[in-house]
Amino acid sequence: MPTIDTIENRWDILYRDYPEVYDEFASVPYSPEIMDFIIEHFELAHKVVLDIGCGTGKSAFALAEHAEKVVGIEPESAMLNLARQFAQDKKIVNVEFKEGSAERLPVPDKSVDAISGITTVFCPADKSLPPFIAEALRVVRPGGKIILVNIAPGWYAGDLHDVVNDSAPNDRLTDEILQDYGFEYRDFDAIQDYGSVEKMVRTYGFIFGRATIDYIKHNQKTRVLWRSRIRYLTVG
Ligand SMILES: C[S@@+](CC[C@H](N)C(=O)[O-])C[C@H]1O[C@@H](n2cnc3c(N)ncnc32)[C@H](O)[C@@H]1O
Repeated sequence: MPTIDTIENRWDILYRDYPEVYDEFASVPYSPEIMDFIIEHFELAHKVVLDIGCGTGKSAFALAEHAEKVVGIEPESAMLNLARQFAQDKKIVNVEFKEGSAERLPVPDKSVDAISGITTVFCPADKSLPPFIAEALRVVRPGGKIILVNIAPGWYAGDLHDVVNDSAPNDRLTDEILQDYGFEYRDFDAIQDYGSVEKMVRTYGFIFGRATIDYIKHNQKTRVLWRSRIRYLTVG
C-alpha cells in the first residue's frame, strides 16, 4: 500500500488510485464559477490553448466551449483515461489529450496561443516553476497568455483550513517567483456547494481526512468558501 508522507504525495495517490473521487470533488459546482471569469477576461475565440495538468478534463472541456482547440497535458494515466472517456461520451471533438508534464511540454515552439494551469500545483515551487515557465515561454506565441489558477496563500482546503490542519504548500514562494517573471494576479472568492453532508464527506472529507469528516458531520457542513489566485502573464 502507498504511504502518505506529504500533502503532494496524498494528492498524487488520489489522482492515481481514486480518479473518480477526484472527478466528483472537482465537479461540485462553485458560485461564481472561476472558469466563467477566465472566459470573460481572456479572449479565447479562435485560440489554441494548452491546458497543463488537465486531470479528468474538467478545465479542458470548459475552455473548449470557447477556444478553437484545447490540448490537455497530464502525467497521470488514470486521470487521462477518464478524460478521454468523457470526451468520447460527450462527443467533444476540439479537445485532444497528451501524456506529459509541465516541465517537458510535448508540443513545438510557438505553437499555442495560451497556456492554462487550473489548480495544477507546482511543488516545490522553486524547483518546478522555473522549468515550467521556460517551457511555457518556448511554446506560447508572442502576445499569448499564461494563466495559472491556484488556491490563494492561506486558503488550502478553503474556509476549513484550520480544521484540516495540514501544513499547506508554500504558496507565498509561488507568488515571489512568478512576480519576478512579471506575472500579475487577482483573487477570486467562490462557494462550493456539495448539496448534502453525505456528499461532502465522501468527496472533500475523503480527501482531507478523519478530523475533517468528524467536523463536517458535527457541524452539518455542506458548503466551503474558497479563495483562488489567478496569476497571468502576456508573453513578449
Ligand atoms: C487538481 S488537478 C486539476 C485538474 C484539472 N485542471 C481540473 O481543473 O479539474 C491537478 C492535476 O495536475 C496534474 N499534475 C501534477 N503535477 C503535474 C506536472 N508536473 N505537470 C503536469 N500536470 C501535473 C495532476 O496529475 C492532476 O491531474
